[in-house]
Amino acid sequence: MPTALITGANRGLGLEFTRQYAADGWKVLATCRDPEAATALKSIKGEIQVLPLDVADFLAIETVSRILAKEKIDLLLNNAGVIGPLQWAFGDTDYNAWAEVFRINTQAPLKMTECFVDQVASSDKKLIVSITSRLGSISSNDSGEQYTYRSSKAALNMVHKSLSIDLAEKGITTAVIHPGWAKTDMGGANATVDPVDSVSGIRKVIDGLNSADSGKFFNYDGAPIDW
Ligand SMILES: NC(=O)c1ccc[n+]([C@@H]2O[C@H](COP(=O)([O-])OP(=O)(O)OC[C@H]3O[C@@H](n4cnc5c(N)ncnc54)[C@H](OP(=O)(O)O)[C@@H]3O)[C@@H](O)[C@H]2O)c1
Repeated sequence: MPTALITGANRGLGLEFTRQYAADGWKVLATCRDPEAATALKSIKGEIQVLPLDVADFLAIETVSRILAKEKIDLLLNNAGVIGPLQWAFGDTDYNAWAEVFRINTQAPLKMTECFVDQVASSDKKLIVSITSRLGSISSNDSGEQYTYRSSKAALNMVHKSLSIDLAEKGITTAVIHPGWAKTDMGGANATVDPVDSVSGIRKVIDGLNSADSGKFFNYDGAPIDW
């Protein structure tokens, strides 16, 4: 039975990832900030271990890694993310909030990777995937604004490019995947993609990943996205 470690598993795409992987027979190490309040997560049937983890707390990441030292983690899925302040026009930047968004969206996936690399390397599938955003694509930015979120995801993409090179000798494949404009708290009610379809698409992309894909940027339907 393969094992996935998922961050931000209590709602949105993380909850749906947990549902689908558990239904597919995977063991899921489902992390979230507040397990006590994670009613929907705790109601999912299957082999699921719920663990507390605020990914902005790097000491906590180290602690969870020590707790899970003996696990073979086939898929590290860095899903947790924040959009940051919704005032995102030029001149409106909240620099303290930007630092917090950067810590969660960009630094935490690298810290997770540093802390869990051995567990991933000892697994069969050896996959590390982060949920990025098309808003982090420099070449497709034709509408400006969103300095905070865009830059956090563009930097996350760069983190993964380096990981794909540095972790190749361990046999680890990494990728960043855009979930589409998905109907979650973050995506909002006008979003066009059902989280079920987003997650099933992403799972298909993940399932097809091989070493030649490492460091690449995909849409949830498998189409490549330009940096
Ligand atoms: N929805 C979209 O249209 C869309 C588009 C592009 C990319 N994405 C990306 O997809 C991923 C999932 O987004 P979503 O749409 O599912 O958003 P969401 O519904 O807002 O859920 C975000 C999840 O991240 C968790 N999270 C936030 N900060 C955290 C922290 N410091 N530590 C641990 N968990 C934390 C939240 O936990 P709490 O409940 O504790 O806050 C929640 O579980 C994110 O990386 C997002 O940037 C989403």
